[in-house]
Amino acid sequence: MLRALMLVPLAVVCASAAGQSIRGVSPWASGVGVADRIADRPEDWPLLTEHFSHVTPENCMKPVAVQPEEGRWNFGQADRFVAFAESKGLKVVGHCLVWAKDDRTPPWFYRDGDKEASKELLLARMKTHIGTVVGRYKGRIAEWDVVNEALDDGKSELRESGWTRLAGEEFILRAFEWAHAADPAAMLVYNDYNDELDGKREKMLGLVGRLKARGAPVHAVGLQGHYEIDRVPYEALEKTLAALRKLGLKAVVSELDIDVIPRGRWWADGGRHRAEMARINPYADGCPPEVLARQAEQYARLFRLFRQYEDVIARVSFWNLHDGQSWLNSFPWKRVNHPLLFDRQGSPKPAFTAVIKELAAPRSPGSQVTR
Ligand code: G3I
Repeated sequence: MLRALMLVPLAVVCASAAGQSIRGVSPWASGVGVADRIADRPEDWPLLTEHFSHVTPENCMKPVAVQPEEGRWNFGQADRFVAFAESKGLKVVGHCLVWAKDDRTPPWFYRDGDKEASKELLLARMKTHIGTVVGRYKGRIAEWDVVNEALDDGKSELRESGWTRLAGEEFILRAFEWAHAADPAAMLVYNDYNDELDGKREKMLGLVGRLKARGAPVHAVGLQGHYEIDRVPYEALEKTLAALRKLGLKAVVSELDIDVIPRGRWWADGGRHRAEMARINPYADGCPPEVLARQAEQYARLFRLFRQYEDVIARVSFWNLHDGQSWLNSFPWKRVNHPLLFDRQGSPKPAFTAVIKELAAPRSPGSQVTR
């Protein structure tokens, strides 16, 4: 019964939303990060193909999934994902070649027997990893998140990790060079979170500037866009998009969502609010209409801003297809979340209608867009 309820609305929605698809009205590529098992979920396919032109595999191309141990390659899910995308005429955004965090890097990358690897060994392993993964899908993956989350949230420029400890900034430069060598046609992205915020923005611009000055093929900056309701950083985003425009750089909004249960305090004060926060689950029986309306307004304002920078923005991708599949249902604690444009039945939410309206609106006369 439950399954029947879940399947029927999807079909109804796709019919009722005909002519109002995100991909149909977007001036940029419209994407979504989807669960690796999408090929086994035909109930998700209509929503996916109706609204999106690009798909990012949520997990199966990450280093820990593809090469958990040195030389033990694991391409089963990634191969299926790419074949599925091709069968649906969707472009793939590969994610990611290097995730510059220790807890996201298989530990063997940093080790050489019982001692730490040298810079040369680490870079040689990275070269093999990138060459093998990018080479395998040459011509079949349109864009790659080459390096993910390398910038520090605190005082340093780069996040402390085995990557920076062993190879400084050079690993980023080489990662882009080697990805480009393996597939010269792929668009290469430096991807991070909060890189639109004051402080981290300057680090991001500095890093990309230095990489470009050294000839690195960085084609776009990824602004992940994991926002929280009532805290969307519009001004900071605008400054960032303006700065990228000035430098002639492209942006992709790579993992967009608006969490309706703010989570920022989870990390505050040394994590001492966590026990209390882990009990917060206010919308388990559904999201109140006034919250959905506020979320819709905030999505609308965001897309209004994006439209003003449509010469800068190459793609906007949501992170997950509908509320029931969002990573924010389990991170950083378990709760029933509602961060996307479609609800758990795949039905459009007020946020969907608001985004479509902004995307379909004629560009305002004062818009700064120059092509
Ligand atoms: O597949 C296993 C399952 O077998 C096991 O029972 C279960 C127990 O925890 O874990 C499952 O794996 C989880 C996996 O998601 C699939 O659901 C991992 O623990 C969990 O860590 C993993 O989380 C992913 C996270 O990245 C870490 O890789 C999220 O799905 C994914 O949405 C999230 O995506 C990241 C982007 O890559 C980078 N930007 C931030 C974004 C959100 O954190």
